[in-house]
Amino acid sequence: MSRWILDVENLSARYGRVEALVGFSLRVAHGEIATVVGANGAGKSTLLHSILGAVSPTSGKVVFAGAEVTRWPIHQRIEAGLVLVPEGRRILVSMTIEENLLLGAHMRQDTATVRREIDDIYDRFPNLAQRRTQNAACLSGGEQQMLALGRAMLAKPRLLMMDEPSLGLSPLFVTRLFELIRDYNSKGLSVLLVEQNTANALKIAHQATVLELGRVAMQGDAAAIAGSSRLQEAYLGGSAVEAAEVGHVRKSIGRR
Ligand SMILES: Nc1ncnc2c1ncn2[C@@H]1O[C@H](COP(=O)(O)OP(=O)(O)OP(=O)(O)O)[C@@H](O)[C@H]1O
Ligand SMILES: [Mg+2]
Repeated sequence: MSRWILDVENLSARYGRVEALVGFSLRVAHGEIATVVGANGAGKSTLLHSILGAVSPTSGKVVFAGAEVTRWPIHQRIEAGLVLVPEGRRILVSMTIEENLLLGAHMRQDTATVRREIDDIYDRFPNLAQRRTQNAACLSGGEQQMLALGRAMLAKPRLLMMDEPSLGLSPLFVTRLFELIRDYNSKGLSVLLVEQNTANALKIAHQATVLELGRVAMQGDAAAIAGSSRLQEAYLGGSAVEAAEVGHVRKSIGRR
């Protein structure tokens, strides 16, 4: 078995004359959290959509779990375990919380296991459990993000891709969300996390890529990138205090 759950090679994508991704490469090892950080318009969503098959790359290839999936339709990639929690969560607010969760499992036949997994999600998210029969519209933004994560987990991802999950969440929910991602990862889930929230993403990631205008500006060990002066100047406002805080948190959670 290949060491990589995901191997993106030299991928380019464009919208008309806009080059959104240029010669992008990234490898994610099994069991790893990889983050791609970058500003508005850097090409983060385009990258995830190209991996999922919602955007057709103009060149390059995507290899997932050893199979080249570059020309596969989206549903086949999802069935293979490539699951995306999209930007803005996209839960269905006119359906109940339980119906939203069941949607994540719609391709599965193992109803007894699905039931157990839904109950496990309710254990993790008591706010969802209490309101399982209510419309998802009643949830706060943070709770909706938890629901979107739960729904994605029911699709049995082998690689979970998340597009800016922390956007618009309170600091408390961001912390809770990132703890959950880390917890799923510690049980073996591989994660590709796209974020503008650079400091938080670098705290939980093993490896990081900084994307600038569709191109890789930096790539490597997350701790090394968090500590680099170039990143601090560009994304952390040059704040030595914040950089020190990232280092401290990483140490306290056992990351170098
Ligand atoms: N459907 C589209 N049609 C035309 N241009 C697009 C389209 N989607 C994205 N773009 C352009 O492609 C570039 C990359 O956009 P993308 O949405 O991938 O960036 P992003 O890093 O996800 O940004 P954000 O942080 O704002 O979500 C931008 O210049 C954007 O304007
Ligand atoms: Mg985006």
